Amino acid sequence: MLTVATTPEQAKQVISEWKAQGLTVGLVPTMGYLHEGHESLIKRAVAENDRVMVSVFVNPIQFAPGEDLETYPRDFEADKRLIEGAGATLVFHPEPADLYFPDACTYVNVEGITAELCGKTRPTHFRGVCTVVNKLMNISQADRAYFGQKDAQQLAVIRRMVRDLNMNVQVVGCPIVREEDGLAKSSRNTYLSAEERTAALVLSRAVAEGQRLMEAGERSAATVLGAMKQLIEAEPLARIDYVEMVSWDDIKPVETVDGPVLVAMAVYIGKTRLIDNFIFGE
Ligand code: PAJ
Repeated sequence: MLTVATTPEQAKQVISEWKAQGLTVGLVPTMGYLHEGHESLIKRAVAENDRVMVSVFVNPIQFAPGEDLETYPRDFEADKRLIEGAGATLVFHPEPADLYFPDACTYVNVEGITAELCGKTRPTHFRGVCTVVNKLMNISQADRAYFGQKDAQQLAVIRRMVRDLNMNVQVVGCPIVREEDGLAKSSRNTYLSAEERTAALVLSRAVAEGQRLMEAGERSAATVLGAMKQLIEAEPLARIDYVEMVSWDDIKPVETVDGPVLVAMAVYIGKTRLIDNFIFGE
Protein backbone atom coordinates (compact mmCIF):
# COMPACT_ATOMS: atom_id res chain seq x y z
CA MET A 1 0.00 0.00 0.00
CA LEU A 2 1.13 3.53 -0.81
CA THR A 3 1.50 6.06 2.00
CA VAL A 4 1.27 9.73 1.04
CA ALA A 5 3.23 12.15 3.24
CA THR A 6 2.70 15.85 2.67
CA THR A 7 5.01 17.25 5.35
CA PRO A 8 8.65 16.45 6.15
CA GLU A 9 7.53 15.32 9.64
CA GLN A 10 5.11 12.75 8.21
CA ALA A 11 7.75 11.39 5.84
CA LYS A 12 10.38 11.27 8.61
CA GLN A 13 7.96 9.33 10.81
CA VAL A 14 7.63 6.55 8.22
CA ILE A 15 11.35 6.58 7.44
CA SER A 16 12.38 6.38 11.10
CA GLU A 17 10.25 3.24 11.49
CA TRP A 18 12.02 1.70 8.48
CA LYS A 19 15.43 2.70 9.77
CA ALA A 20 14.64 1.28 13.23
CA GLN A 21 14.09 -2.09 11.51
CA GLY A 22 17.46 -1.78 9.76
CA LEU A 23 15.90 -1.44 6.29
CA THR A 24 17.69 0.31 3.41
CA VAL A 25 15.99 3.28 1.75
CA GLY A 26 16.09 4.36 -1.90
CA LEU A 27 15.07 7.90 -2.94
CA VAL A 28 13.71 8.91 -6.35
CA PRO A 29 13.21 12.69 -6.58
CA THR A 30 10.76 13.83 -9.29
CA MET A 31 8.59 16.76 -10.25
CA GLY A 32 5.67 14.46 -11.12
CA TYR A 33 3.70 13.91 -14.32
CA LEU A 34 5.52 10.62 -14.32
CA HIS A 35 6.38 8.56 -17.40
CA GLU A 36 8.43 5.45 -18.18
CA GLY A 37 11.68 7.35 -17.61
CA HIS A 38 10.73 8.02 -13.98
CA GLU A 39 9.30 4.51 -13.73
CA SER A 40 12.65 2.97 -14.70
CA LEU A 41 14.31 4.86 -11.82
CA ILE A 42 11.65 3.74 -9.33
CA LYS A 43 11.87 0.09 -10.44
CA ARG A 44 15.66 0.14 -10.13
CA ALA A 45 15.36 1.70 -6.65
CA VAL A 46 12.80 -0.96 -5.64
CA ALA A 47 15.13 -3.71 -6.87
CA GLU A 48 18.12 -2.36 -4.94
CA ASN A 49 16.58 -1.20 -1.62
CA ASP A 50 14.20 -2.56 1.03
CA ARG A 51 11.95 0.53 0.84
CA VAL A 52 11.61 3.42 -1.65
CA MET A 53 10.43 6.99 -1.21
CA VAL A 54 9.43 8.85 -4.38
CA SER A 55 9.06 12.62 -4.09
CA VAL A 56 6.62 14.47 -6.33
CA PHE A 57 7.31 18.18 -5.97
CA VAL A 58 7.49 20.94 -8.57
CA ASN A 59 10.32 22.82 -6.91
CA PRO A 60 9.71 26.57 -7.32
CA ILE A 61 13.28 27.63 -6.49
CA GLN A 62 14.77 25.85 -9.51
CA PHE A 63 12.59 27.83 -11.92
CA ALA A 64 13.55 31.38 -12.96
CA PRO A 65 10.92 34.09 -13.57
CA GLY A 66 9.42 33.57 -17.03
CA GLU A 67 10.02 29.79 -17.00
CA ASP A 68 7.21 27.22 -16.87
CA LEU A 69 6.62 26.87 -13.09
CA GLU A 70 2.91 27.74 -13.33
CA THR A 71 2.18 25.64 -16.42
CA TYR A 72 4.33 22.62 -15.47
CA PRO A 73 1.99 19.60 -15.96
CA ARG A 74 0.56 17.96 -12.84
CA ASP A 75 -1.50 14.79 -12.33
CA PHE A 76 -0.98 13.41 -8.84
CA GLU A 77 -3.64 10.69 -9.11
CA ALA A 78 -1.93 9.16 -12.17
CA ASP A 79 1.47 9.59 -10.49
CA LYS A 80 0.31 7.64 -7.43
CA ARG A 81 -0.87 4.76 -9.64
CA LEU A 82 2.48 4.61 -11.47
CA ILE A 83 4.45 4.79 -8.21
CA GLU A 84 2.42 2.04 -6.56
CA GLY A 85 2.60 -0.11 -9.70
CA ALA A 86 6.38 0.24 -9.72
CA GLY A 87 6.56 -1.02 -6.14
CA ALA A 88 7.41 2.05 -4.04
CA THR A 89 5.55 2.43 -0.75
CA LEU A 90 6.02 6.09 0.23
CA VAL A 91 5.34 9.18 -1.81
CA PHE A 92 6.34 12.57 -0.47
CA HIS A 93 4.13 15.26 -1.99
CA PRO A 94 4.50 18.56 -0.12
CA GLU A 95 3.26 22.03 -1.01
CA PRO A 96 6.07 24.61 -1.27
CA ALA A 97 5.05 26.04 2.13
CA ASP A 98 5.40 22.56 3.71
CA LEU A 99 8.99 22.23 2.51
CA TYR A 100 10.40 25.77 2.65
CA PHE A 101 10.42 27.89 5.78
CA PRO A 102 9.21 31.39 4.89
CA ASP A 103 12.49 32.82 6.20
CA ALA A 104 14.77 30.08 4.80
CA CYS A 105 18.21 31.50 4.01
CA THR A 106 20.31 28.40 3.32
CA TYR A 107 21.06 27.23 -0.22
CA VAL A 108 23.44 24.62 -1.63
CA ASN A 109 25.59 26.18 -4.32
CA VAL A 110 27.80 23.87 -6.38
CA GLU A 111 30.29 26.00 -8.33
CA GLY A 112 32.30 25.45 -11.52
CA ILE A 113 30.58 22.32 -12.75
CA THR A 114 27.37 24.37 -13.00
CA ALA A 115 28.93 27.10 -15.19
CA GLU A 116 28.44 25.44 -18.61
CA LEU A 117 25.47 23.95 -20.51
CA CYS A 118 22.15 24.53 -18.67
CA GLY A 119 23.94 26.63 -16.02
CA LYS A 120 24.66 29.30 -18.65
CA THR A 121 21.05 29.91 -19.66
CA ARG A 122 19.57 28.96 -16.26
CA PRO A 123 22.04 30.54 -13.77
CA THR A 124 19.99 29.90 -10.60
CA HIS A 125 18.64 26.49 -11.63
CA PHE A 126 21.20 24.14 -10.04
CA ARG A 127 21.20 26.04 -6.76
CA GLY A 128 17.49 25.26 -6.55
CA VAL A 129 17.99 21.63 -7.58
CA CYS A 130 20.85 21.01 -5.12
CA THR A 131 19.02 22.67 -2.25
CA VAL A 132 15.86 20.60 -2.71
CA VAL A 133 17.75 17.34 -3.37
CA ASN A 134 19.83 17.90 -0.25
CA LYS A 135 16.64 18.44 1.78
CA LEU A 136 15.06 15.30 0.27
CA MET A 137 18.17 13.26 1.06
CA ASN A 138 18.10 14.49 4.65
CA ILE A 139 14.38 13.80 5.08
CA SER A 140 14.59 10.31 3.56
CA GLN A 141 17.97 9.31 5.09
CA ALA A 142 18.40 7.54 1.75
CA ASP A 143 21.12 4.95 1.31
CA ARG A 144 20.84 5.39 -2.48
CA ALA A 145 19.32 8.11 -4.67
CA TYR A 146 18.42 7.63 -8.34
CA PHE A 147 18.85 10.15 -11.17
CA GLY A 148 18.42 9.88 -14.94
CA GLN A 149 21.16 10.54 -17.47
CA LYS A 150 18.46 12.47 -19.34
CA ASP A 151 19.52 15.38 -17.11
CA ALA A 152 23.22 14.54 -17.35
CA GLN A 153 24.57 17.79 -15.93
CA GLN A 154 22.17 17.48 -12.99
CA LEU A 155 23.51 13.96 -12.33
CA ALA A 156 27.12 15.23 -12.41
CA VAL A 157 26.28 18.18 -10.14
CA ILE A 158 24.49 15.99 -7.56
CA ARG A 159 27.40 13.52 -7.56
CA ARG A 160 29.78 16.41 -6.89
CA MET A 161 27.60 17.83 -4.11
CA VAL A 162 27.43 14.43 -2.38
CA ARG A 163 31.20 13.98 -2.68
CA ASP A 164 32.12 17.51 -1.58
CA LEU A 165 29.78 17.48 1.42
CA ASN A 166 30.67 13.90 2.50
CA MET A 167 27.01 12.90 2.33
CA ASN A 168 26.11 9.31 3.23
CA VAL A 169 24.19 8.49 0.09
CA GLN A 170 25.16 6.64 -3.06
CA VAL A 171 24.13 8.42 -6.27
CA VAL A 172 22.95 5.99 -8.96
CA GLY A 173 22.78 7.17 -12.59
CA CYS A 174 20.21 5.51 -14.90
CA PRO A 175 20.04 5.41 -18.74
CA ILE A 176 17.77 7.64 -20.85
CA VAL A 177 14.39 6.09 -21.66
CA ARG A 178 13.13 7.04 -25.14
CA GLU A 179 9.90 6.87 -27.14
CA GLU A 180 9.92 4.27 -29.92
CA ASP A 181 10.88 6.92 -32.47
CA GLY A 182 13.83 8.09 -30.35
CA LEU A 183 12.47 11.20 -28.57
CA ALA A 184 13.70 11.20 -24.96
CA LYS A 185 10.71 10.85 -22.63
CA SER A 186 9.98 14.08 -20.77
CA SER A 187 7.07 15.57 -18.84
CA ARG A 188 7.55 18.64 -21.06
CA ASN A 189 6.82 16.67 -24.27
CA THR A 190 3.16 17.25 -23.43
CA TYR A 191 3.63 20.92 -24.45
CA LEU A 192 4.33 19.91 -28.08
CA SER A 193 1.75 20.22 -30.86
CA ALA A 194 1.60 17.35 -33.38
CA GLU A 195 3.80 19.30 -35.79
CA GLU A 196 6.29 20.16 -33.04
CA ARG A 197 6.34 16.56 -31.83
CA THR A 198 7.63 15.53 -35.26
CA ALA A 199 10.13 18.41 -35.33
CA ALA A 200 11.39 17.38 -31.86
CA LEU A 201 12.92 14.27 -33.41
CA VAL A 202 15.88 16.42 -34.53
CA LEU A 203 17.28 16.14 -31.01
CA SER A 204 17.58 12.34 -30.96
CA ARG A 205 18.64 12.37 -34.62
CA ALA A 206 21.46 14.78 -33.72
CA VAL A 207 22.44 12.51 -30.81
CA ALA A 208 22.55 9.52 -33.17
CA GLU A 209 24.64 11.47 -35.70
CA GLY A 210 27.12 12.63 -33.04
CA GLN A 211 27.42 9.10 -31.69
CA ARG A 212 27.92 7.70 -35.18
CA LEU A 213 30.77 10.13 -35.93
CA MET A 214 32.52 9.45 -32.63
CA GLU A 215 32.17 5.69 -32.97
CA ALA A 216 33.72 6.06 -36.43
CA GLY A 217 36.76 7.67 -34.77
CA GLU A 218 36.07 11.41 -34.99
CA ARG A 219 37.75 13.19 -32.04
CA SER A 220 37.33 16.87 -32.92
CA ALA A 221 34.54 18.54 -30.92
CA ALA A 222 34.10 21.19 -33.64
CA THR A 223 33.49 18.54 -36.31
CA VAL A 224 31.05 16.49 -34.20
CA LEU A 225 29.14 19.54 -32.94
CA GLY A 226 29.15 21.13 -36.41
CA ALA A 227 27.45 18.11 -37.93
CA MET A 228 24.90 17.97 -35.11
CA LYS A 229 24.10 21.68 -35.35
CA GLN A 230 23.71 21.51 -39.13
CA LEU A 231 21.13 18.76 -38.71
CA ILE A 232 19.19 20.72 -36.08
CA GLU A 233 19.33 24.00 -38.01
CA ALA A 234 17.70 22.30 -41.00
CA GLU A 235 14.50 21.97 -38.91
CA PRO A 236 12.53 25.26 -39.18
CA LEU A 237 10.74 24.82 -35.81
CA ALA A 238 14.00 24.23 -33.91
CA ARG A 239 16.14 26.93 -32.30
CA ILE A 240 19.40 25.91 -30.62
CA ASP A 241 20.05 27.06 -27.03
CA TYR A 242 23.33 25.11 -26.92
CA VAL A 243 25.01 22.06 -28.43
CA GLU A 244 28.27 21.41 -26.57
CA MET A 245 30.91 18.85 -25.72
CA VAL A 246 32.31 18.83 -22.17
CA SER A 247 34.39 16.49 -20.03
CA TRP A 248 32.01 14.10 -18.23
CA ASP A 249 33.72 14.30 -14.84
CA ASP A 250 33.88 18.09 -14.44
CA ILE A 251 31.74 19.58 -17.26
CA LYS A 252 34.51 21.69 -18.84
CA PRO A 253 34.59 22.47 -22.60
CA VAL A 254 36.58 19.97 -24.66
CA GLU A 255 38.22 20.59 -28.05
CA THR A 256 39.74 17.16 -28.71
CA VAL A 257 38.38 14.04 -27.05
CA ASP A 258 40.85 12.24 -24.79
CA GLY A 259 38.60 10.94 -22.01
CA PRO A 260 34.91 10.43 -21.22
CA VAL A 261 32.83 13.28 -22.66
CA LEU A 262 29.26 14.46 -22.43
CA VAL A 263 27.74 15.79 -25.64
CA ALA A 264 24.64 17.71 -24.60
CA MET A 265 22.09 19.99 -26.17
CA ALA A 266 19.14 22.17 -25.31
CA VAL A 267 16.89 23.07 -28.23
CA TYR A 268 13.69 25.09 -28.37
CA ILE A 269 10.96 23.45 -30.41
CA GLY A 270 8.52 26.33 -30.71
CA LYS A 271 8.32 27.63 -27.14
CA THR A 272 9.30 24.31 -25.52
CA ARG A 273 12.89 23.82 -24.40
CA LEU A 274 13.97 20.17 -24.74
CA ILE A 275 17.27 18.53 -23.77
CA ASP A 276 19.08 15.41 -24.92
CA ASN A 277 22.62 14.04 -24.73
CA PHE A 278 24.99 11.13 -24.98
CA ILE A 279 28.07 10.14 -23.05
CA PHE A 280 31.05 8.80 -24.98
CA GLY A 281 33.98 6.82 -23.63
CA GLU A 282 32.73 6.21 -20.09
P1 PAJ B 1 12.09 15.47 -13.25
O1 PAJ B 1 12.31 16.24 -14.51
O2 PAJ B 1 10.71 15.07 -12.88
O3 PAJ B 1 12.98 14.18 -13.35
C1 PAJ B 1 13.09 13.32 -12.24
C2 PAJ B 1 14.16 12.28 -12.55
O4 PAJ B 1 13.75 11.48 -13.66
C3 PAJ B 1 15.51 12.93 -12.95
O5 PAJ B 1 16.58 12.23 -12.34
C4 PAJ B 1 15.52 12.76 -14.45
O6 PAJ B 1 16.81 12.71 -15.02
C5 PAJ B 1 14.79 11.43 -14.61
N1 PAJ B 1 14.24 11.31 -15.98
C6 PAJ B 1 13.40 12.16 -16.62
N2 PAJ B 1 13.17 11.75 -17.87
C7 PAJ B 1 13.90 10.61 -18.04
C8 PAJ B 1 14.10 9.71 -19.14
N3 PAJ B 1 13.51 9.90 -20.30
N4 PAJ B 1 14.92 8.66 -18.94
C9 PAJ B 1 15.55 8.46 -17.75
N5 PAJ B 1 15.40 9.27 -16.69
C10 PAJ B 1 14.59 10.33 -16.83
O7 PAJ B 1 14.89 16.32 -12.59
C11 PAJ B 1 13.98 16.73 -11.89
O8 PAJ B 1 12.68 16.29 -12.00
C12 PAJ B 1 14.21 17.75 -10.78
O9 PAJ B 1 15.26 18.61 -11.15
C13 PAJ B 1 14.49 17.11 -9.39
C14 PAJ B 1 15.78 16.26 -9.41
C15 PAJ B 1 13.31 16.26 -8.95
C16 PAJ B 1 14.70 18.23 -8.34
O10 PAJ B 1 13.58 19.03 -8.24
